[in-house]
Amino acid sequence: MSKDEARAAKRIEQLREEIRKHDRRYYEEAAPIISDREYDRLYKELVDLETQFSDLVTPDSPTQRVGGKPLKAFEQVSHLIPMLSLDNTYSEEEVKNFYARIQRLLPDEKIPVVIEPKVDGVAVSLIYENGKLRQAATRGDGNVGDNITQNIRTIRSVPERLCDGAPKLLEARGEVYMDRKGFEKLNDERKKQGLPLFANPRNAAAGSLKQLDPEIVAKRPLGVVLYGTGATEGVDVNVHSEIFPLLKKLGLPATQRWWVAESVEEILDAIHQLDGIRHNFAYQTDGAVVKVNSFAQRERLGFTAKSPRWAIAYKYAAERVQTRLKDIVIQVGRTGILTPVAVLEPVLVSGSTVGRATLHNEDEIKRKDIRIGDTVVIEKAGEVIPAVVEVVKSKRPRGTAPFRFSKHIHGKCPVCGGHI
Ligand code: IVH
Repeated sequence: MSKDEARAAKRIEQLREEIRKHDRRYYEEAAPIISDREYDRLYKELVDLETQFSDLVTPDSPTQRVGGKPLKAFEQVSHLIPMLSLDNTYSEEEVKNFYARIQRLLPDEKIPVVIEPKVDGVAVSLIYENGKLRQAATRGDGNVGDNITQNIRTIRSVPERLCDGAPKLLEARGEVYMDRKGFEKLNDERKKQGLPLFANPRNAAAGSLKQLDPEIVAKRPLGVVLYGTGATEGVDVNVHSEIFPLLKKLGLPATQRWWVAESVEEILDAIHQLDGIRHNFAYQTDGAVVKVNSFAQRERLGFTAKSPRWAIAYKYAAERVQTRLKDIVIQVGRTGILTPVAVLEPVLVSGSTVGRATLHNEDEIKRKDIRIGDTVVIEKAGEVIPAVVEVVKSKRPRGTAPFRFSKHIHGKCPVCGGHI
């Protein structure tokens, strides 16, 4: 190694360390300590040095996050421990039953449980060996998933290396998501390009991870939030609630808010508290997961045929609100399909202001007898574009008329004026 090269190697290592540190501050702690400009300067210095001394490029360099060639197909990989699903419920009564059941199975014991967000993303397993990211996989059928390591490497909040103190083996599990703003921006771009739109952030995240070309994935605003572990070696943790600080300490993006409860009242209280703050998270959530905290107790509770007895997912009802339907406009799709859209008195629902809702098609309007001037109930479920669920007939003003699609647009395409 020449003197120049040795000097470059040293500087490259410094820059990588520093960039990794700033990535962590930016993506995990949301508390950057340098400006974007300064960050870009460090990054560029590293790129320049690596271009000049290409022998010194290593796969774990922050510059290699976008890289790798497009794949022909994803390799199939077996999970070290199956990735299971949870029993779902929409009723608080069933949450009570769940806790009563485990109390019956473990009589005279304290059974602390953790309440945490149910993230509405795409399940992922990240395997770190001796602190280095070795593999990322989708859930697949629970036993075998797609090897999506290349794609996950493009996500900057996923560190290539863990901080000091990493165990021999750590499989972290969580969800890949697309944040709301990124999702809206991506759909805006797709609209301009005449591409089909993603229905919601989860679909957008799933569609992104299915890309065989990591360069495309790198342009998608994806993030990861981790809520648990799978296979581990050298991890000395006996309760679930200790996993979150452990993941965080190792530099991984973990669930930020969780509660420990020891009674039904406390569980329901936590579920309500979570409902009050979950719309502030960058990721979408659709429920609360209640899990027995102690791993020893979990083992004794075991599994039913398809899910653990020690956990349940409570799903929040989609939020519904009433507002006035000011107008119905017709949108013309790229393929010439005409879609009626409700123009609403703007109203706050599930954390964002809504001024439009989809009415699907003419039949739907007829079936629900939706008229301009009506007060309507709109619902926002997983979809970002809400739907009109029903009309509040008791609030219908006098003099409204059933909506006639063709009359409304005078039999002409609202864009080109041609007959339809
Ligand atoms: S725990 C055996 N915790 O929901 C329990 N899952 O139907 C394994 N999910 O496949 C899952 N947020 O993809 C767990 N905080 C959370 C979750 C969560 C979302 C997903 C996960 C799982 C599905 C369960």
